[in-house]
Amino acid sequence: MQEKENAMEALDVAKKNLEDAGYLNLPVENIDLVKEINRLKKEKNAVILAHFYQEPAIQDIADHLGDSLYLARKAAETDADMIVFAGVHFMAETAKILNPDKKVLLPDLHAGCSLADSCPAVDFKAFIDQHPDHYVISYINCSAEVKALSDIICTSSNALQIVRSLPEDQPIIFAPDKHLGEFVMKQTGRDMLLWDGACLVHEAFSIEKILNLIKENPNAKVIAHPESETHILKVASYVGSTTGLLNYVQEDDHNEFIIATEHGIIHQMKKKVKNKKLIPAPINQNNACACSECEFMKMNTMEKLYLCMKYELPEITIPQDLMKKALAPIERMLAVK
Ligand code: 13P
Ligand code: SF4
Repeated sequence: MQEKENAMEALDVAKKNLEDAGYLNLPVENIDLVKEINRLKKEKNAVILAHFYQEPAIQDIADHLGDSLYLARKAAETDADMIVFAGVHFMAETAKILNPDKKVLLPDLHAGCSLADSCPAVDFKAFIDQHPDHYVISYINCSAEVKALSDIICTSSNALQIVRSLPEDQPIIFAPDKHLGEFVMKQTGRDMLLWDGACLVHEAFSIEKILNLIKENPNAKVIAHPESETHILKVASYVGSTTGLLNYVQEDDHNEFIIATEHGIIHQMKKKVKNKKLIPAPINQNNACACSECEFMKMNTMEKLYLCMKYELPEITIPQDLMKKALAPIERMLAVK
């Protein structure tokens, strides 16, 4: 919640600055956005980092496109003066923590994360205080405040590796995603104390509709992101991060896949595997694409990307002492190869 309040406050300041600059009246529709974004990138020595859930045009213009771990590594390595993060708030925040002296921009400051929101730092601190002997592993989808309370950060790419690296008798708290936590417990045989958080986008999948799809497409393999619920993961032939899923459809010899993650990944999959059938896993509600879309990821648009690069707003700002505390657990994760 604190993260959200800070973001909203920063948004008001950003809006005021933008109004002063005449930004809100800009006729963006008359601009060649691709050309202008590329020009601004050179002019400002900026780097665009984009997640696979971004809209296709943003994925196509990014300098680096990937999952959370890859993007955190790219943020840590960059020598650009300005980082433009086409993703959600916790991702841009991680980039800022890794680059306290650089300008880090997020095209829409409202681009939050339901999973990060499910773990307010005050409540999490009280939970940790009740279990002082536990080692705290937090999934990267959390606020800077929660990161600062953690011993190490993980992503869906390295969660298994990080848990396996700890001594067998070390008690562990795993937060905030209970589904990823349950998956890790099952795979490693470790018992962990789980925070009761989840991602709305990955909890939206309908097992009944997926089972029907399997009947209609008997040659299709289900592949799923580990934020999905356990009954979805049970029917999956492969469970992995967005990069893992992308690699799987390329390397596996099957030609049909039912994909249980956010719809944005399909754009990259279609580019990589032109002749395979890629079916987005259906959700409980009926919507236009019959698939699961992250409303936060989709808040970023090419227009907002252009405007944020032009006016260098909205910028991610985090108190220095909080950045310092949140850096150590992120660096511990990055040191795991
Ligand atoms: P990945 O790190 O697998 O890309 O996951 C990020 C995310 O937010 C999934 O919802
Ligand atoms: Fe957060 Fe879920 Fe969106 Fe990923 S898909 S950014 S976990 S709300």
